Amino acid sequence: MSTRELIFDGKEKKIYSTENPDIVLIHYNDVTTAYGGIKRAVIKDKGICNNHISALAFQVLAKEGVENHFISLENDREQLCRRIEIIPLQVVVRNRLAGSTARLLGVANGTVIPNTVFELRYNNDRLRDPMINDTHVLALGIVSEEELKRIYSLTAHANEVLKEFFHKAGMELIDIKLECGRTSDGKIILSDEISPDNCRIWDEKTGEVLDKDRFRHDLSDVTVSYQKVMERLEKAYEV
Ligand code: C5P
Repeated sequence: MSTRELIFDGKEKKIYSTENPDIVLIHYNDVTTAYGGIKRAVIKDKGICNNHISALAFQVLAKEGVENHFISLENDREQLCRRIEIIPLQVVVRNRLAGSTARLLGVANGTVIPNTVFELRYNNDRLRDPMINDTHVLALGIVSEEELKRIYSLTAHANEVLKEFFHKAGMELIDIKLECGRTSDGKIILSDEISPDNCRIWDEKTGEVLDKDRFRHDLSDVTVSYQKVMERLEKAYEV
């Protein structure tokens, strides 16, 4: 890839241009951050696990009709994806109440709920990604009303597919942070990554935490957990 140029240097991922203006190369590294970057560490081989988990998840999502940016897995740490214009919106989809929302609402971590909860956050480091609602999104002109509808239906569909994706490997999807982007022809598709870094995944039988909460809460064996998630999924999907 001779025309590789760094176009985005994130904490946990780097994005490079390719000779095709509509395609980028995403490189997953081992840096892990939490609490808005206050907590930071290098977790050996985390990037390899996340690259593989994300690639598999995006392929299953595409097969189930959830349009997303993934094109192909290039190697252990890199994947080719469609270039998108970033929409500064995070959609947190919750199948149980955990983490910040459990604290906000004063309920036990992991509280079972009868419906799916959707939260929007304005992706803005300076403001620490504040929670916003639909009317804020429209007031700020982040997306149009039509596009917001599309974002809700895309993320709801993705959540249903991903619940089954993890369930097939004996894991429960507690919540997930999803992001969407706009393609050069104006279409909204799912982007970012699907990995233990941006969702909560618990072992269905034992309740063992298998995601970034292990790092956030100083639990042991973060790498082992990420590897476990990858290996279980690869076994379930015969990769
Ligand atoms: O902390 P909170 O409970 O709001 O997180 C909800 C979900 O969103 C978790 O799965 C967490 O890993 C993910 N998240 C994320 N990036 C953030 C904040 C939360 O991926 N900046």
